[in-house]
Amino acid sequence: MSEAVDMRGRSLLTLSDMTDGEVTWLLDLALKLKQDKHGGVCGQRLAGRHIALVFEKMSTRTRCAAAVAAADEGGRTEYLAASEIHLGKKESVADTARVLGRMFDGILFRGYHQETVELLAQHGGVPVWNGLTDISHPTQALADLMTIKEYFGRLAGLTVVYAGDGRNNVATSLMLGCAMSGMHFVNCTPESLSPTDELIAHAAGMAAQRGGTVRVAHDPIEAVSGANVVYTDVWTSMGEEDQFDARVQLLKPYQVNMALMQATGNLEAEQAIFLHCLPAFHDALTEVTCATGALEVTDEVFEAPFSLVFDQAENRLHTIKALFVSSLERDKKSDKESVTSNQ
Ligand code: CP
Ligand code: NVA
Repeated sequence: MSEAVDMRGRSLLTLSDMTDGEVTWLLDLALKLKQDKHGGVCGQRLAGRHIALVFEKMSTRTRCAAAVAAADEGGRTEYLAASEIHLGKKESVADTARVLGRMFDGILFRGYHQETVELLAQHGGVPVWNGLTDISHPTQALADLMTIKEYFGRLAGLTVVYAGDGRNNVATSLMLGCAMSGMHFVNCTPESLSPTDELIAHAAGMAAQRGGTVRVAHDPIEAVSGANVVYTDVWTSMGEEDQFDARVQLLKPYQVNMALMQATGNLEAEQAIFLHCLPAFHDALTEVTCATGALEVTDEVFEAPFSLVFDQAENRLHTIKALFVSSLERDKKSDKESVTSNQ
């Protein structure tokens, strides 16, 4: 277990809000919480804690992970669909934040603009966690790193190749997470979907200080050579639905199929895994893929033994629980004082 870290009261708006030491510590805490839960042990570290889940966009994993994480530790969540509250319509985000902060102990936000989650944190007076915005998905990156660490027993020195829409929320948060962990990260994407030069330079600088590298590539077969992790995400993110047809044409060469996994050269030695944040368009399983066939990943890869996508989905629970617990766990000493002063 890494050295103890105190993250009480802390928000997570992007992964840059954490140091690499804090990320390592939080991943170890998540691994411990997973082991405990599988052993039938849960605690009361969130007893009396109320967490607001403010969601502008749809979600299965993030919403359920938050609800179960809080309940496992004696806390509770309230799901607030943005369409059913006044957020940003009859009431400014700042005013809603001040109201929620008077009633809740923390706020998990999922939505469009990064500015909204920043305003919630600025005015809420309680920890705020980013459960996905257009540009960032930090809680997903934590679960991704946990899944990689669980399989390989380490992070530094491993090579992660992301193939697909290289400037989306998942790709850029993963890039940052890998850089902070001293990994080699390849963002394999068409020129038009590359992250900004500024973001690449920032991640590359961070990786270099930790013995890792970050680069952008455009040829998938070349990019995945030596990869330990091949990662993809949907080709059109929530809010970009009007670009669907153009993206399918643009990203077809970046589909993760068995030929691409073989090109890692690491499958036989079981030193390559496949990850996807989900939901995934693989073969004819959804309304969309019935018409188009597999998009970003084929069934053959998705269902293969080296595909750890459901471990990864489960790890959303343990990492979000680690975040809630580390931000909201009470100071034992002041608890004792408040019990005494209430008598
Ligand atoms: N990966 C992820 O964030 O899934 P949901 O959209 O279901 O929350
Ligand atoms: N990039 C995807 C991630 C979904 C979890 C989206 O934003 O829709």
